[in-house]
Amino acid sequence: MDKGARGARAAAHAFEVKFYAAGQLPAGIRGSLRDLVDENMTGYPSFEVVGDSNHLASDDMLFFTCGGHGTLPLLGFAAFKLEVVEDTTLVVYIYELQVRAGVQGQGLGSRLLLYVEQWSAEQHERQPRALMLTVHRSNARARKFYWKSGFKKSMLSPGYKAAYRILEKELRHGQKTKQRAGVV
Ligand SMILES: CC(C)(COP(=O)(O)OP(=O)(O)OC[C@H]1O[C@@H](n2cnc3c(N)ncnc32)[C@H](O)[C@@H]1OP(=O)(O)O)[C@@H](O)C(=O)NCCC(=O)NCCS
Repeated sequence: MDKGARGARAAAHAFEVKFYAAGQLPAGIRGSLRDLVDENMTGYPSFEVVGDSNHLASDDMLFFTCGGHGTLPLLGFAAFKLEVVEDTTLVVYIYELQVRAGVQGQGLGSRLLLYVEQWSAEQHERQPRALMLTVHRSNARARKFYWKSGFKKSMLSPGYKAAYRILEKELRHGQKTKQRAGVV
C-alpha cells in the first residue's frame, strides 16, 4: 500500500465515531476525557463557573467518541444524557462537546453533534423536546459553531451579563433548521 493510501485509511479510522454508555467506556478513553476538557477549556475566565468535569463520571452519561484506542489519542467526544429541566420538560443535555485542537475545523464537531441529534430523535418513547447545552459567553468560536448548527438562546439562559449562555435546539422530525451567520 502506498503512503497516501495508508494516510487516507489512517484518517478514516481516526474519524470513526463510537457510542458508549458510561459503564461501557474503555478505561483508556475514560482517562482521557478530563484531559481533553482541561486542554480545551482551561484559560476561559468563566471556567470555574460552569466548568466541572465531575459530570463525566456520572453513571447515566452517554458518549460518542472518536479515537482513544491503541496509540491513537482521543480526538473528540460528546457527553450527553436525558435530563428533566423546569420539573417537567425532558431534554437531551449536552455536557461536553470537545475536539482536539489539531483536528478542529475538519468537521468532527459537527459530526459528533449530528450523532447526538440522531440519537435523540430516535428516542421515540420518551421524546425529548430539545437538545440543550451551556456555552461560555467568551467562547465566540463555539457560539458561532452552535448558531450555525441551529441552536438558539434558551428561555432558561441567564441575563446577558452572565458568564455563560444556555442554548437549545428543538427536536422536530422532518423540519429543516434555518441557519444564519452570527453567534448565539
Ligand atoms: C466548538 C468545536 C466543538 C467545533 O468542532 P469542530 O470540529 O472544530 O467544528 P467543525 O469542523 O465541525 O466546523 C463547523 C463550524 O465550526 C466553525 N469553525 C470550525 N473551525 C473554525 C475555526 N478555526 N475558526 C472559526 N470557526 C470555526 C465554523 O463555523 C464551521 O463551519 P464551516 O464548516 O461552515 O466553516 C471545537 O472547535 C472545539 O472542541 N472547541 C474547543 C472546545 C469547545 O469550545 N467546546 C464547546 C464547549 S460548549
